[in-house]
Amino acid sequence: MRDGIWEGTGEGRGGTILVRITVESNIITDAKAMSQSESSFAQESLNAVLAKAIGRKDYMSVELDGVSGATLTSTGVIDALNMAIAVAKGEKKAEEKIYSDGKCDIVVVGAGGAGLCAAVEAAAQGRTVIVLEKQGIIGGNTNYSTGGINAAETSVQQELGIIDSKDLFYDDTMKGGHYLNDPVLVRSFVDNGPQTIDWLKALGADLSDVGIMGGSSVRRTHRPNGGTAIGPHLMKVLKEASASEKVEIRTGNKVSGLLMDGVGVCGVKVENHNGSPYQISASAVIIATGGFGANIGMVTKYCPEFEGLATLNHKGATGDAFKWVEEAGGSLIHLDQIQIHPTSECVNHILITEAVRGNGAILVNAQGQRFVNEMDTRDVVAGAILRQKDGMAYLIFDEQVRKSLASIETYANQGVLKSADSVEKLAGIVGLDPASLKSTMDRYARMQRQGKDEDFGRSASSMAVPLTSSPYYSVGVTPAIHHTMGGIKVDKDMHVIRSDGSAVKGLYAAGEVTGGLHGANRLGGNGVGDIVVNGKIAGRNAAAGK
Ligand code: FUM
Repeated sequence: MRDGIWEGTGEGRGGTILVRITVESNIITDAKAMSQSESSFAQESLNAVLAKAIGRKDYMSVELDGVSGATLTSTGVIDALNMAIAVAKGEKKAEEKIYSDGKCDIVVVGAGGAGLCAAVEAAAQGRTVIVLEKQGIIGGNTNYSTGGINAAETSVQQELGIIDSKDLFYDDTMKGGHYLNDPVLVRSFVDNGPQTIDWLKALGADLSDVGIMGGSSVRRTHRPNGGTAIGPHLMKVLKEASASEKVEIRTGNKVSGLLMDGVGVCGVKVENHNGSPYQISASAVIIATGGFGANIGMVTKYCPEFEGLATLNHKGATGDAFKWVEEAGGSLIHLDQIQIHPTSECVNHILITEAVRGNGAILVNAQGQRFVNEMDTRDVVAGAILRQKDGMAYLIFDEQVRKSLASIETYANQGVLKSADSVEKLAGIVGLDPASLKSTMDRYARMQRQGKDEDFGRSASSMAVPLTSSPYYSVGVTPAIHHTMGGIKVDKDMHVIRSDGSAVKGLYAAGEVTGGLHGANRLGGNGVGDIVVNGKIAGRNAAAGK
């Protein structure tokens, strides 16, 4: 690195983080955040990463140097430091590149999980691919996703001796979606699951742990060893695969519309990071811009009852693409089907993965009593929580559950877990009646041992442990806006479909921006399943011009 003062930017949870480093004799001697809007609870992580930069001679790695907790903040500040280091090394100019008109075979709009799956698959078929991302970082909502990828009859399930079937997965998905789902999309999704799991494994993904999420009859949620969050791992794998397939990813480049040639879509209109316009011509465009869960105006237009709820979505999830798609003749479906996730941590609105319940946790209300089958579908569980005092509940689990799921360590590091060495003491800490919570826990332990939930019918397979291993833990949770199940109407090949059923030539879509697969309620684990299965299908078909 050259001696001097250098700057770089990265995207944290609250927006852009600008850092400045001082380099003397090839060593970073100072690192400061010059501007950032991270929440107060993330400041510790931000400062810890900056402290780790001092004394370094080279790039930082999210895995090796990231601190636990505030993952998006840690990743954002590491990205910013790495940009500053790249500038110090003379490998990158401080100012971002300004693009002018160009062409490629396939344009992908959106660099989340669906977009990069599509891009990697299309590039692997020999196509030139440019991915355009309006945010300063890649990943979108995939960066936040924790639970895992649902698929049935996979090689991983087979190795673990899990008996499942595509038909059972199909039935669970249709039932969970209250049969509003498009059955053709569901069948294709289910049928393409196992090969997509193998494809991801071949790209380097670790999907060796299989858990269970609400509404699933058996364990089919594939995630990394120990139950770590799927999203950051998936993005790392897809980023590396994109680099090896020579996919060009342009962050900070916002699509403003589609180019049409009278027959179909033939490219995109784009704005550089400084707002200057340019165009890219392409034989196909794949829309993978995610949902609209951060566009509160749009959410409450379709679901006024969600007014006042927090969102678990990244700030770029605003539904911009719908306008361009409609202008190109495409149609939209099920926009009023919006999912709230039952367990958003009450204060900082951190997603507490459903896998915590899948691995054994229960929910109790202010009276210290269970009130729902915790493994029922999200609409049922979230609705039940909203009917409790203050619209919130307490997620309760023990040390055995904590040890079984690595994601819980993140919550511990974020300081959102309350703990005590007895149930009664835990009750005292969180403000519940000790005798009532103890009686609930004793009853649950008895029913767990009998393998029968006499109160709410929770399946024995999801009552993993009796919750009798000290210490005990609690997190206060409330529902928050999670997933928008409606969107662009597509067929099973991910063509964008007009209202008359015909396909818009040259236009494909995949992931949360599409509608129809999940019906009226998405099952946990089907969101990431959708982006990988249908992202890959979109990439393959766009590459083939099919
Ligand atoms: O609870 C969760 O981990 C969320 C997963 C999902 O929405 O699929």
